[in-house]
Amino acid sequence: MSLSLYDSAHSLDGRSGWDTPVFSMKDSSDLNPMVKEAWEALCRSQVYFRGKPVGTIAAYDHASEEVLNYDQVFVRDFVPSALAFLMKGEPDTVKNFLLKTLHIQGQDKMIDKFKLGDGAMPASFKVLHNPIKKTDSIIADFGESAIGRVAPVDSGFWWIILLRAYTKSTGDHSLAERPECQKGMRLILSLCLSEGFDTFPTLLCADGCSMVDRRMGIYGYPIEIQALFFMALRSALSMLKHDSEGKEFMEKIVKRLHALSFHMRSYFWLDFQQLNDIYRYKTEEYSHTAVNKFNVIPDSIPDWIFDFMPLRGGYFVGNVSPARMDFRWFALGNCIAILSSLATPEQSMAIMDLIEARWEELVGEMPLKICYPAMESHEWRIVTGCDPKNTRWSYHNGGTWPVLLWLLTAASIKTGRPQIARRAIELAEARLLKDGWPEYYDGKSGRFIGKQARKFQTWSIAGYLVAKMMMDDPTHVGMISMEEEKHMKPPLRRSSSWT
Ligand code: GLC
Repeated sequence: MSLSLYDSAHSLDGRSGWDTPVFSMKDSSDLNPMVKEAWEALCRSQVYFRGKPVGTIAAYDHASEEVLNYDQVFVRDFVPSALAFLMKGEPDTVKNFLLKTLHIQGQDKMIDKFKLGDGAMPASFKVLHNPIKKTDSIIADFGESAIGRVAPVDSGFWWIILLRAYTKSTGDHSLAERPECQKGMRLILSLCLSEGFDTFPTLLCADGCSMVDRRMGIYGYPIEIQALFFMALRSALSMLKHDSEGKEFMEKIVKRLHALSFHMRSYFWLDFQQLNDIYRYKTEEYSHTAVNKFNVIPDSIPDWIFDFMPLRGGYFVGNVSPARMDFRWFALGNCIAILSSLATPEQSMAIMDLIEARWEELVGEMPLKICYPAMESHEWRIVTGCDPKNTRWSYHNGGTWPVLLWLLTAASIKTGRPQIARRAIELAEARLLKDGWPEYYDGKSGRFIGKQARKFQTWSIAGYLVAKMMMDDPTHVGMISMEEEKHMKPPLRRSSSWT
């Protein structure tokens, strides 16, 4: 596989193949009232360091008694804010954020007596204003303050993905080309491309290392991380300089992408046919001729999947490792798989088919379930350690997260099925503003504002704005989406449902 098979920001002159028009709130007095309120709330959530905007806080909820760390700028939470700013034609906050977090990455990072890897990016940071001395300082959290001390594996991936989005949207290659950005990327890549004992190209992770930052049985090879890993690798490939250091990484990336996409497309993919095959698997097969490569015991297939799996449709399962397949469906991983083209065009279509076929389960009254289904009783006790926040159909355990609307919208547009996004946006518009932009909803159909949900959760607000802007101008999707490798590129197909 040659480098040219992956899209390269360098090869595109000017802004990008998908031109991003500049949109300004000033010239849009006819904004719909919900969009207007959302912009105002997003602007209020901006955080300044020495007078410059450097990010947005997680939630601006004055009514909540506990602030915890919701007054911090989370790397993953800032992504939809950043996309909203880029789509609006105001990239400065994004640039400042990228440079600020890069600077934080360069700090000495200790947890107790243990020094973290050079590439580690923070989960979040907080700006401290000293009103007397009139100085600003920053404290960052690399997992040492986070509940449960979880490592933010996704932060570095989002950082690279955002750097590409900035480059694509503004056409400004000079930021990504700066030596410090090149170094920052290489440090992140060193962490995830280092050799170990692995027999798989997927990235081995501890529980709670991404958006689901609590124990939820999402360890080993979770789809969310694999999809972000894939997208970050492709993004880095398009931005690394062809100098000697850059080239060394590019070669590693190309090899890893090849192996990773093969592995994911073959072993994580589940549809009716594949489920039926697993159901009939023989076990204890030895040698490379084994059909049941991971020795999955058919008895371990959960009952719910037999009803859930439609005849048409499919998805990437939550996890695959020896004798353990997590059959749960995860929203972020499947949407990122579509956007990064980790999913083949057929798989992308099938993921959208499944969302349509299982609308009641996955969307219900509010988009979108973080995962499906919820864990209950004994399983919940063992897997979550009796986590009272993650009870069934709440929070990370089958809860509904409005932020995921932007991912669903981007995936719908990319697959030529915007009517799916339209339906989801309508549901969000019926309640989100009225409910005060909650962080999450609870219940089987996402009807109740989450038990401990923050209000004015920034990524719920920004996610809505990004979804709206992409629907108004689908070319915006280009900054967060990647085409299939050229040799596999399908002819452009628009399903009849586009109109
Ligand atoms: C919760 C979420 C996490 C998010 C953070 C800030 O911890 O699980 O994904 O980044 O809140 O909103």
